[in-house]
Amino acid sequence: MLNNKPIGIFDSGYGGLTVFRSIFQQLPAYDYIYLGDTARAPYGNRSFQTIHQYTWECVQWLFKQGCPLVILACNTASSKALRTIQQRDLQNEDPSKRVLGVIRPTAEVIGDYTKTKEIGVLGTKGTVQSGSYVIEIGHFFPEVKVRQQACPLWVPLIENGEHDKPGADYFVKKYLDQALAQSANIDTILLACTHYPLLQEKIKAYLPANIQTISQGDIVAKSLVDYLQRHPEMESMLTKNSTQQFFTTTDDTSDFDHYAEIFFCR
Ligand code: DGL
Repeated sequence: MLNNKPIGIFDSGYGGLTVFRSIFQQLPAYDYIYLGDTARAPYGNRSFQTIHQYTWECVQWLFKQGCPLVILACNTASSKALRTIQQRDLQNEDPSKRVLGVIRPTAEVIGDYTKTKEIGVLGTKGTVQSGSYVIEIGHFFPEVKVRQQACPLWVPLIENGEHDKPGADYFVKKYLDQALAQSANIDTILLACTHYPLLQEKIKAYLPANIQTISQGDIVAKSLVDYLQRHPEMESMLTKNSTQQFFTTTDDTSDFDHYAEIFFCR
C-alpha cells in the first residue's frame, strides 16, 4: 500500500461520493483514496479563508498518503479554494502535484444541454456568492443566461440523513420556487453541489416535465478520462491495483460507513 500512487478525491462530507462513483465506473483500474471532512462540514456558509484553510489541509493529507493528483469533488471548495491552491500553494509545496476541480469541466459542457439558452444553477451560498459558474459558463457559452440560486439548507438535510424524508419536500419546493421565479425560460437545472444528487428524485418530482436536471458525476468523470489521456506523465505515475479507501475526519466512522454505502452504491 505504501508504494501506491492513488487518485485522491476530496469533499467536505459525503457529497463527493456521487462524483467518485462515476469516476470509479469509468476508471475502475486506478487506486483511490476518498477523504470527507465530515467533522467540519458543511463548508457552504463558511468564509473564503476558512474554506481555503480546510481544503488545503485535506489536500496536503491526501498528498501525504501518496496521491500525486487530487480531485476537489466539491463545488464550494472548487469555487473558493482551487485557484489559490493551484496558483500559490502548489508552487510552494510541490509543483509536480496536481489539484483539479469540478466547476470548469461542468462549465465546458453545460451550455450544450439547454435549448432555451437559460440555465438555473443550484449551489451552496459559497458557490453562488463566488460567481464562479457565471464567469466560467460565460467563457464557454457567452449566449447562455445563468440564473443562480443558493440552497443553504439542502446540505445539512443530506448530511443528517433527511434527504429522503417528507420534511425535505418543503425545502426542495422552497428553493426550486425561488430559482424558477427568476425566469420562465429556464429549461435546465444544474445541480452544482455534489450533495444534491441525493435529492434528485424529489427535485425531479417537483420540476415541470420540460425542465431537465443535470448532475455532475459523469461530466467530471469524463473530463478526468480526457485529462489522463492528455497527461501521460501523470497517468503513468498512478498505480492501478483497483483499491478504494475511504477516510473521514469524524471520530466515529459508523455514520460515514452508512452514508458511504448510500452515496457510493446508489
Ligand atoms: N459538496 C459540496 C459542494 O459540492 C458542498 C457541501 C458543503 O456545503 O459543505 O458544494
